[in-house]
Amino acid sequence: MSPRPRAFVTRRLPGGALARLAERADTSVWQGEGAPPPEAIAAGAREADGLLCMLTDRVDGALLRACPRLRVISSCSVGVDHIDLAAASARGIPVGHTPGVLVETTADLAFGLLLAAARRIPEADRYLREGRWSFAHRWDPDALLGRDLHGATLGIVGLGAIGRAIARRAAGFGMRVLGWSRTPRSLPGVEACALDRLLAESDFVSVHVALTPETRGLIGQRALAGMRTGAILVNAARGGIVDEAALAAALASGKLAGAALDVFAQEPLDPASPLLAAPNLVLTPHIGSASVATRTRMADLAVENLLAGLEGRRLPSQAVTGRA
Ligand code: DGY
Repeated sequence: MSPRPRAFVTRRLPGGALARLAERADTSVWQGEGAPPPEAIAAGAREADGLLCMLTDRVDGALLRACPRLRVISSCSVGVDHIDLAAASARGIPVGHTPGVLVETTADLAFGLLLAAARRIPEADRYLREGRWSFAHRWDPDALLGRDLHGATLGIVGLGAIGRAIARRAAGFGMRVLGWSRTPRSLPGVEACALDRLLAESDFVSVHVALTPETRGLIGQRALAGMRTGAILVNAARGGIVDEAALAAALASGKLAGAALDVFAQEPLDPASPLLAAPNLVLTPHIGSASVATRTRMADLAVENLLAGLEGRRLPSQAVTGRA
């Protein structure tokens, strides 16, 4: 009988996925507080046949060289920009990820951010809690005025599964939808156009591309300058796609009326980030997929991918170099 494979998992996961993994592999799970430091990942993965990691764990060529037993890597995320896919592929190590299962949940959050920024919901909440809602100002005709979604134009940057889920939500809100993606797609209810035109014509822009060398800084100073004055920008895809300093400047100058970000170039957000001083900016801490059901499904799929690799089967969801 061949020995049981060994798996190292960098976080405890919701649901019963880890118990299922432990039935078929000797499983060791990082028990420390929060994300393991790189040394702990290297120590755990060194003796493992399979590594189940999170988007917070950097898996680069140096780690792979230090872990010669590794036969499969499975990330509990759709994004794989934290993994050196080329280095893994050069060593013949398949990389699994979790597309599909988080599409609707992430689109819900992105759309929620759109509404929050458009209708200034967090600002209104603060106004009330800080005791500023006085009798004299109990209904001011000009207080906390936001933007309507209905009748407005939404530009979707990236028409992958999440971008398309946003388009469906926008149709329900009576929005006109423009869409741009690196691979041209024709979709019902979405007018495909060049990125420059999308930015120039949209009242709201929502970003849904993966972070790759081509999309890093895609929404930078030039793109922001090309947006409609008074537009609102949402990014729930990856930090690094939007240039944060340029966005802070565009909000401060009034070029953009508002923005909402769930993802940042550096996570957690640096307390010195100019974003924290920018006006009309809604910030959430990378919670796009954070629903009970979706995080459980992500854990299930990550374990299915890992087990498939450990048992020499094709991974149900294998990441391909250059895409996420
Ligand atoms: C992912 O899986 O890449 C998402 O960012 C998680 O929310």
